[in-house]
Amino acid sequence: MKARELPIKELIEKLREEHTTLPATIDDAVITYKTGNLSGAFPVIAEVRETLSQHIIDEEGVLLKFLIDKIGKDASEPYIKILQEHTKIMKLVEQSVESTYTGWTETENDLNTLKETLAEHHKQEETVLYPKVVSLL
Ligand SMILES: [Fe+2]
Ligand SMILES: [Fe+2]
Repeated sequence: MKARELPIKELIEKLREEHTTLPATIDDAVITYKTGNLSGAFPVIAEVRETLSQHIIDEEGVLLKFLIDKIGKDASEPYIKILQEHTKIMKLVEQSVESTYTGWTETENDLNTLKETLAEHHKQEETVLYPKVVSLL
Protein backbone atom coordinates (compact mmCIF):
# COMPACT_ATOMS: atom_id res chain seq x y z
CA MET A 1 0.00 0.00 0.00
CA LYS A 2 1.33 3.42 -0.98
CA ALA A 3 0.61 6.84 0.53
CA ARG A 4 -2.15 8.80 -1.18
CA GLU A 5 -0.82 11.40 -3.53
CA LEU A 6 -2.64 14.51 -2.37
CA PRO A 7 -1.47 17.99 -1.41
CA ILE A 8 -0.83 17.92 2.36
CA LYS A 9 -3.72 20.25 3.19
CA GLU A 10 -6.18 18.06 1.33
CA LEU A 11 -4.69 14.94 2.84
CA ILE A 12 -5.22 16.33 6.35
CA GLU A 13 -8.85 17.10 5.47
CA LYS A 14 -9.26 13.50 4.34
CA LEU A 15 -7.61 12.19 7.53
CA ARG A 16 -9.88 14.37 9.71
CA GLU A 17 -12.88 13.05 7.83
CA GLU A 18 -11.75 9.47 8.51
CA HIS A 19 -11.40 10.28 12.21
CA THR A 20 -15.12 11.05 12.11
CA THR A 21 -16.23 8.07 10.03
CA LEU A 22 -14.09 5.37 11.66
CA PRO A 23 -15.91 5.27 15.04
CA ALA A 24 -19.23 5.09 13.16
CA THR A 25 -17.97 2.17 11.07
CA ILE A 26 -16.78 0.39 14.22
CA ASP A 27 -20.23 0.90 15.77
CA ASP A 28 -21.71 -0.45 12.60
CA ALA A 29 -19.67 -3.65 12.96
CA VAL A 30 -20.86 -4.10 16.55
CA ILE A 31 -24.50 -3.45 15.65
CA THR A 32 -24.35 -5.84 12.69
CA TYR A 33 -22.79 -8.47 14.92
CA LYS A 34 -25.37 -7.97 17.68
CA THR A 35 -28.24 -8.49 15.30
CA GLY A 36 -26.78 -11.94 14.66
CA ASN A 37 -25.46 -11.12 11.22
CA LEU A 38 -21.95 -12.52 11.72
CA SER A 39 -21.10 -12.81 8.05
CA GLY A 40 -22.23 -9.22 7.54
CA ALA A 41 -20.09 -7.87 10.36
CA PHE A 42 -16.83 -9.32 9.11
CA PRO A 43 -16.53 -7.14 5.98
CA VAL A 44 -17.24 -4.09 8.13
CA ILE A 45 -14.27 -4.92 10.36
CA ALA A 46 -12.18 -5.63 7.27
CA GLU A 47 -13.12 -2.17 6.03
CA VAL A 48 -11.92 -0.63 9.31
CA ARG A 49 -8.62 -2.46 8.86
CA GLU A 50 -8.30 -1.28 5.26
CA THR A 51 -9.11 2.35 6.09
CA LEU A 52 -6.75 2.42 9.06
CA SER A 53 -3.88 0.83 7.15
CA GLN A 54 -4.02 3.51 4.45
CA HIS A 55 -4.58 6.23 7.04
CA ILE A 56 -1.49 5.21 9.01
CA ILE A 57 0.69 4.97 5.91
CA ASP A 58 -0.32 8.53 5.01
CA GLU A 59 0.38 9.91 8.48
CA GLU A 60 3.77 8.25 8.74
CA GLY A 61 4.84 8.35 5.11
CA VAL A 62 3.67 11.87 4.33
CA LEU A 63 3.08 13.95 7.48
CA LEU A 64 5.93 12.59 9.58
CA LYS A 65 8.32 12.61 6.66
CA PHE A 66 7.38 16.26 5.98
CA LEU A 67 7.95 17.16 9.64
CA ILE A 68 11.35 15.48 9.83
CA ASP A 69 12.41 17.18 6.59
CA LYS A 70 11.32 20.57 7.95
CA ILE A 71 12.35 20.51 11.62
CA GLY A 72 14.62 17.48 11.98
CA LYS A 73 14.30 14.24 13.89
CA ASP A 74 14.99 15.59 17.38
CA ALA A 75 12.35 18.32 17.19
CA SER A 76 9.91 15.80 15.72
CA GLU A 77 10.17 13.57 18.79
CA PRO A 78 6.80 14.59 20.39
CA TYR A 79 5.03 13.91 17.09
CA ILE A 80 6.81 10.59 16.59
CA LYS A 81 5.53 9.62 20.02
CA ILE A 82 1.93 10.25 18.96
CA LEU A 83 2.42 8.16 15.82
CA GLN A 84 3.97 5.30 17.77
CA GLU A 85 0.45 4.62 19.04
CA HIS A 86 -0.20 3.15 15.59
CA THR A 87 1.47 -0.12 16.60
CA LYS A 88 -1.00 -0.58 19.44
CA ILE A 89 -3.93 0.46 17.25
CA MET A 90 -3.12 -2.01 14.47
CA LYS A 91 -2.59 -4.74 17.04
CA LEU A 92 -6.12 -4.11 18.32
CA VAL A 93 -7.46 -4.23 14.78
CA GLU A 94 -5.74 -7.57 14.11
CA GLN A 95 -7.01 -8.88 17.43
CA SER A 96 -10.56 -7.87 16.48
CA VAL A 97 -10.27 -9.63 13.14
CA GLU A 98 -8.80 -12.75 14.74
CA SER A 99 -11.42 -12.92 17.47
CA THR A 100 -14.13 -13.10 14.83
CA TYR A 101 -12.69 -16.47 13.76
CA THR A 102 -13.02 -17.87 17.26
CA GLY A 103 -16.67 -17.07 17.72
CA TRP A 104 -16.82 -13.34 18.42
CA THR A 105 -16.76 -13.70 22.20
CA GLU A 106 -13.92 -11.16 22.43
CA THR A 107 -14.71 -9.12 19.36
CA GLU A 108 -17.03 -6.58 20.91
CA ASN A 109 -14.54 -5.89 23.70
CA ASP A 110 -11.69 -5.54 21.22
CA LEU A 111 -13.71 -3.14 19.09
CA ASN A 112 -14.68 -1.03 22.08
CA THR A 113 -11.06 -0.81 23.23
CA LEU A 114 -10.09 0.12 19.69
CA LYS A 115 -12.69 2.87 19.65
CA GLU A 116 -11.49 4.32 22.97
CA THR A 117 -7.84 4.16 21.90
CA LEU A 118 -8.67 5.86 18.60
CA ALA A 119 -10.64 8.64 20.30
CA GLU A 120 -7.63 9.68 22.38
CA HIS A 121 -5.21 9.23 19.48
CA HIS A 122 -7.32 11.30 17.09
CA LYS A 123 -7.59 14.07 19.65
CA GLN A 124 -3.78 14.21 19.90
CA GLU A 125 -3.38 14.29 16.14
CA GLU A 126 -6.00 16.96 15.60
CA THR A 127 -4.78 19.26 18.37
CA VAL A 128 -1.01 18.69 18.21
CA LEU A 129 0.23 16.94 15.05
CA TYR A 130 -1.95 18.35 12.27
CA PRO A 131 -1.73 22.00 13.43
CA LYS A 132 2.07 21.67 13.57
CA VAL A 133 2.24 20.33 10.02
CA VAL A 134 -0.14 23.03 8.74
CA SER A 135 1.95 25.73 10.45
CA LEU A 136 4.96 24.63 8.40
CA LEU A 137 3.25 24.59 4.99
FE1 LIG B 1 -2.81 8.22 13.60
FE1 LIG C 1 -5.18 9.85 12.25
